Amino acid sequence: MDGTIRENTVDEIKSRCNIVDIIGGVVRLKKAGSNYKGLCPFHKEKTPSFVVSEEKQIYTCFGCGATGDVIEFVQKYYNLDFPEALQKLADSCGVTIESSYAGTKNKDELYSINKEAATFFFRAFHKTGSPAYEYMKKRGINDEVLKKFGIGYADTEWDSLYKHLKEKDFPEEKLVDLGLISSSKGKYFDKFRNRVIFPIINTRGKVIGFGGRTIGEDMPKYLNSRESSVFLKKNNLYGLSVTRSEMTKTGYAVLVEGYMDVISLYQRGICNVAASLGTALTENQAKLLKRYVSNVVLAYDSDEAGRKAAFRGMDILHREEFKVKIPHMSEAKDPDDFIKAKGRSAFIKLMKEALPYADYKLTAIKKEVNMKTTEGRVDFLKKAVEVLKTLGPVEADIYIKKLAAETGISEGAIRAEMDIGKENKKEEKPRPGGDGENKKKGKATVSRLEKNAIKLMLADESYINDLIDYKDMFQSVAGKNIFEAISSLSKKDERPDLEKLSGMLEPEDADVLKDIQETIILAGKEEEVLKECIRAYHEAANKKREKELIMMISMANEEENSEEIKKLTEELMEIQKKNRNGGK
Ligand code: CTP
Ligand code: MN
Repeated sequence: MDGTIRENTVDEIKSRCNIVDIIGGVVRLKKAGSNYKGLCPFHKEKTPSFVVSEEKQIYTCFGCGATGDVIEFVQKYYNLDFPEALQKLADSCGVTIESSYAGTKNKDELYSINKEAATFFFRAFHKTGSPAYEYMKKRGINDEVLKKFGIGYADTEWDSLYKHLKEKDFPEEKLVDLGLISSSKGKYFDKFRNRVIFPIINTRGKVIGFGGRTIGEDMPKYLNSRESSVFLKKNNLYGLSVTRSEMTKTGYAVLVEGYMDVISLYQRGICNVAASLGTALTENQAKLLKRYVSNVVLAYDSDEAGRKAAFRGMDILHREEFKVKIPHMSEAKDPDDFIKAKGRSAFIKLMKEALPYADYKLTAIKKEVNMKTTEGRVDFLKKAVEVLKTLGPVEADIYIKKLAAETGISEGAIRAEMDIGKENKKEEKPRPGGDGENKKKGKATVSRLEKNAIKLMLADESYINDLIDYKDMFQSVAGKNIFEAISSLSKKDERPDLEKLSGMLEPEDADVLKDIQETIILAGKEEEVLKECIRAYHEAANKKREKELIMMISMANEEENSEEIKKLTEELMEIQKKNRNGGK
């Protein structure tokens, strides 16, 4: 990961965690002048003498004398040491903590440079005859909103910003680092030229970067500041500095794709809006938003790219436990176009009619399959269940009933499929090689039978061939992994000795293997064990097929699929007979 991130962790956390929000989460704060006031959490009092300053990002209690910044507050309030407090704040604002906290100073200068640039662009924008101003007027944005978002203008000169910042004595390499200036053959050039400038401001009011839309035909249409230690796209949302109070007030946020969508919706009275910064929505952006709201309307562009982005975005939001809704904006390209053409109340109506997460997903899945065939319905059910499993129990229950009514698939079949899923999930979760959190492994329970089979193959290689086709008898994760390792060695004609196998396995699985080698004694029962393994394999396979058949039959349409039903029922009867007879 980029060294600058590691070095600036403390600063990053402080700049992302507004002290008012953090303290406001545990102390009831009331606005008092430019500060916030509340009852001190550190001593008993009846009249508030606990003051939080948003501007200074500190708290002070005039009753007991407690004072400090956001980190110190968290330390004191939760009784944590410094790294713990840092971690807690990092978790809540979505920052990844790296090992070093050094080097935070240089950020202040970067913020000052950005602020100076923003002011420069802003002044140019409001000069008479500025093409950017004309452009934004044409797009229907009024002065008040333009000012609120600090919209600016980068003129057509090659180096006007450079000259201006040079006059202020800012070092060139920092201007380059921030992506304001580029250098070529010893000369410096402004990066943003002939563009409307959208300053990107974090929730602490710091200018962290810029987006610039061309006024002419230049490519790209939008140019953004390059990422720097003060500007990480994945951690920020455009507009939030202005709109977050409106989000808290209304209890939800409208998330859009573009800068113009934010400005345009805001102008027309949808003020609780923000945009992801020209990238797919990230987990950190979701966490940032979570500080203000738990409901999101995801109003992305209606083209294919926008729909795909919305699809991924809603999963991320769902995982962060937002209630997500996705409006269907078919007649317009994006929210800006929509609200310009149809007005505010039409947009509000659109949001009211927006589909909740689960409905949206299920509708999309249904479109992918052919519900007229049994296969299609089985396919649908499987995919639908994957969605249902991510819901809370109450919600899942509602959707099970709804699905059953809509599709004619019985509630029982849906619930059965969900249970099958549950078993699989238990098995799959601890698989090694997953990303991030999945690395936390659960204890795999390896059955006696699996242990015997593994020991058999270790004891006498000839049994590997006997068992190689019965892979499915291994139900546990560790068992499966060990079997894979043994069979891959055997395919290379190598002896499966303990050391080699252990090297191929995750430590946890290697421990299981060692345990098997040491504790399982076959003592002349090899042939018996082999038979038992094969029988267990058939039994498991039959049980699985039985479940599948029951599901398919329950989902088949009696009129349309009568032929199939007959066949499936015959197979089912056959299988059930076998299962009663112990797999034969
Ligand atoms: N974007 C970007 N770089 C580009 C194109 C787009 O960073 N080359 C980002 C910008 O944040 C932009 C958003 O993606 O606001 C949406 O892009 P697009 O839909 O193309 O633009 P609009 O927001 O609709 O802008 P406009 O209405 O001005 O054409
Ligand atoms: Mn647009």
